[in-house]
Amino acid sequence: MTKVRSTVYESFRQRFPESARLAAEAGQVVPRVVTHDARHLDPFPLYMSHALGSHKWDVDGNEYIDYAGGHGSLFLGHSHPDIVRAVQAQMERGTHYGFSHEREVRWAELIVRLVPCADRVEFTMSGTESVMLALRIARGYTGRTKIIKFQEHFHGWYDQVCHALAYPYEQPSTLGLDDGQLASVAVLPPNRIAPVREALEGGDVAAVILEPGGARGGFLPVDREYLQQLREETAKAGTVLIFDEVITGFRYSPGGAQQYFGVTPDLSTFGKIVGGGLPSGAVGGRAEVMEVLEYGRLGEKGRPGRVSHTGTFNANPLAAAAGVVMLEHVATGLPHQRANQTAATLRGKMNGVLDELDVSGRVFGDCSMLHLLLAPPDRCPPLTAEGLIPSDWPLEYLADNKGVVSTHLKRALLLEGVDVLSDHGWVSAAHDEDDVEETARAFRRALQRLLAEDLVFLRS
Ligand SMILES: Cc1ncc(COP(=O)(O)O)c(C=O)c1O
Repeated sequence: MTKVRSTVYESFRQRFPESARLAAEAGQVVPRVVTHDARHLDPFPLYMSHALGSHKWDVDGNEYIDYAGGHGSLFLGHSHPDIVRAVQAQMERGTHYGFSHEREVRWAELIVRLVPCADRVEFTMSGTESVMLALRIARGYTGRTKIIKFQEHFHGWYDQVCHALAYPYEQPSTLGLDDGQLASVAVLPPNRIAPVREALEGGDVAAVILEPGGARGGFLPVDREYLQQLREETAKAGTVLIFDEVITGFRYSPGGAQQYFGVTPDLSTFGKIVGGGLPSGAVGGRAEVMEVLEYGRLGEKGRPGRVSHTGTFNANPLAAAAGVVMLEHVATGLPHQRANQTAATLRGKMNGVLDELDVSGRVFGDCSMLHLLLAPPDRCPPLTAEGLIPSDWPLEYLADNKGVVSTHLKRALLLEGVDVLSDHGWVSAAHDEDDVEETARAFRRALQRLLAEDLVFLRS
């Protein structure tokens, strides 16, 4: 299973000469060659030239059905004509006014209309920035500093939440973290209310933050009942409950995971879909909490009276133009119907391929998510009635999955014309029945390549 220089590896190396050339050039100026850790691939990443709808093309002329989906931001697919038109029109009217503009108001109004917790909205430039701001708002509102996050729950690359991302959790996930800052962050196991209750007892916790669909984009689900319990416990403790909806927002339903699960947090962070595929982010929240951003608040004893927030490109006109069009589509609920149906069919067909080839693995996910698990039989749980991994499945059992899926399977799938990101994929409203059929066939061919080299686990 640790074999690296396999035939798939060699085929990969030979198939993409232009990508290999660009990667070599990049290596002279970009330290890790890629520009996001999730895009790293041995022996080299692929370089894309263009994309449309559910497909994209690389610089060697190969075509892919794309489930990397702009890291989940392209809910309508690549270059949706309405978004292209809106962005082109805005481009001619200027890209930054150093002042406010009408579209930012419309954009915020749409978020308020769609998202249950959002009485007020503040724009940022990324999901990570939204998390940074939400934590600052929570601390400003409560006057407390401590934060609770959960093992495996991902919130971007902000130092304060950038740990316990992979088993073993005690090990720092990156060099360069400031231990002093980490002292105010408590990491707890997910899906167990007792440790949260205990941690909240001191009355010193500013915020509890989590991915409401479950860790790693919903790979490890949370129970609806747990979300409800978190809501009750945080409300009792005067702690701000933050749903990080950077992935689930506008995807699980027009109002995100909070509408889908029927649990309303105090604050929500957004990125990805909110900007219609352009760089952006937002924090939405309860009026009483968001008030800490307002001007004219007087601080006590020489302390600032408000939470400040800057950012050159906050609510920039291009992202606003794309974001408004995206959210108008989201508001109809139609992209969800289509993407969810397509994803359910695709998950079923891919699981059928696993059955047929006797490969130990699962394809699962909520709504339009596609999660891929390839693990030995004793580490591959039966799926729940909702088609998910059981929420109490031991997290350490999943430790090796990312490695297997994002190296061996990723290379084999690319050779067969399909792209996923890490161990998941995002189905968009642009994917259709032909994509589903061809993806299932490509998945079969990719697994056959891996089986031939003993790179996947058999069930028996
Ligand atoms: C749940 C979650 N929060 C935050 C982030 C960070 O967003 P960004 O990459 O836009 O900074 C991500 C990114 O994937 C995410 O999945």
